[in-house]
Amino acid sequence: MSLEALFQPLTIGSLEIPNRVVMAPLTRARADDRHVPTPLQGEYYAQRADAGLIISEATAVDPLGMGWYRAPGIWSDEMTTAWKGITNRVHEAGGRIYCQLWHMGRLVLPDYIGGQQPIGPSPIAGEGETMAPPPEDYTGGFLPMKPYVVPREMVQADIDQLVAAYGRGASNAQAAGFDGVEIHGANGYIIDQFLQSKTNRRQDGYGGSIDNRVRLLREVIEAVIAKVDPGRVGLRVSPTSERKGMGDADPGALTEAIGRIAQQYGLAYIHLIEPIASGFMEKPVYPVMDRLRAVFSGTIIQNGSFDGPAAGDAISQRKADAISFGRPYIANPDLVARIRHGLPLADANFDYAYIGEEKGYTDYPTVAPAT
Ligand SMILES: Cc1cc2nc3c(=O)[nH]c(=O)nc-3n(C[C@H](O)[C@H](O)[C@H](O)COP(=O)(O)O)c2cc1C
Repeated sequence: MSLEALFQPLTIGSLEIPNRVVMAPLTRARADDRHVPTPLQGEYYAQRADAGLIISEATAVDPLGMGWYRAPGIWSDEMTTAWKGITNRVHEAGGRIYCQLWHMGRLVLPDYIGGQQPIGPSPIAGEGETMAPPPEDYTGGFLPMKPYVVPREMVQADIDQLVAAYGRGASNAQAAGFDGVEIHGANGYIIDQFLQSKTNRRQDGYGGSIDNRVRLLREVIEAVIAKVDPGRVGLRVSPTSERKGMGDADPGALTEAIGRIAQQYGLAYIHLIEPIASGFMEKPVYPVMDRLRAVFSGTIIQNGSFDGPAAGDAISQRKADAISFGRPYIANPDLVARIRHGLPLADANFDYAYIGEEKGYTDYPTVAPAT
C-alpha cells in the first residue's frame, strides 16, 4: 500500500510534480572539454522525463569552481544557450528540471585552473584523490588520479566573487529555461566546506560558531533568490557526511541552523543526504531528519540507498515528502514505471559513470510499459 504514496502528486514551493520520484543529481561528464553542455545530455534527460522532478548534474557557476573533466558549467552565454536546448528536450517530453548550482572550492585540482591554487575557507586539503584532466596523448578511458591540494584561504573579495557567481548562475539557469535551481551545499564542495567545523577554521565572521559558518550559505541564498523566486529554489545538504575529509562537531545542530535559514528565506525544499557517512549505506537511515522537520515546513526530499518500497515507506511515515534516486537512474531511464509495476531494476555499468559518450549513458533500454 505504501508504494502508492510515491505516486501521489506534490507541490514543492510553487512547482507541482506528478509523482514523488526525484532524479538525484548525477555528474556524468558528457559536456564538451570546455564544459559546454551537449545535445547528448538532452537525450539522456529527456529519456528520464517521467521523474516527478529531475535535478541536473552539478553545474559550475564559475571557472575557479570547476575541477571535473567534461562536467558542465553555466557561467557563460554559450553554456546558457546550450542548456536551453536541454531544458527544451525535457519539457517537450513532459518533464521538469532544476539546475544544481555548484562550486568545488578546495576540491579543484590546480591542473583545471591554469595552475592556480584552488580556494577554500581554510588551508586544509581534501582527503583522497580525484580525476585529473587527460594527458596530451589521451585517447579515452580512465583518467589519471591525483591527490587534492591545500587551498588558498579565501579573503573577502573571493567570497564576494563567489556569491556573485551564484547569482549569475541562478540568472543564467533561469534564462536557460530551468524550472528552478538547487544550491549544492552538500558532498564536501565549497558551501559544505564553510558549513562543517572540520574544514572551516576561519577566525573571521565566516568561521567559528554555527551562526558564522552558515553565513556564506545565507549570502548565497540571498544572491540566488534575488534572481529566482524562492518557491523555485532548493538546497542540497549532507551534514553527516565525512567523505573527502569532511566532518562536523554537531551535525544535528548544524542541520537545525540550515533548516532555520531555509525557512526564513522561504526555500521550496531541502534535499537531505543523510546516510552517507563514509560510503554508500545498505539501507536508509535518518540521523538528523527530525531536527530538520522541527524547524523547516517546506518539502524535504530524502536521498540515499532507497528502493521503491523503502521510498514508499519513508513517505508514508513522514520521514520525507519525496525521495531522490541516484544510482538507480543510471541504468533505468524508466525508473518511475519500473517501481510502479514492481519490475526488476537493471544494474549500472560504473565503468561509464563518469566517462564516455552514448555507451553506458543513453543506451540503457526502457522495459516498463508506459504509465
Ligand atoms: C555517478 C554519480 C554522480 C553523482 N553526481 C552528483 C552530483 O553531481 N551532485 C550531487 O549532489 N550528488 C551527486 N552524486 C550523489 C547522488 O546524487 C546521490 O546522493 C547518491 O548516489 C546516493 O543516492 P543513491 O543511493 O540513490 O544512489 C553522484 C553519485 C553518483 C553515483
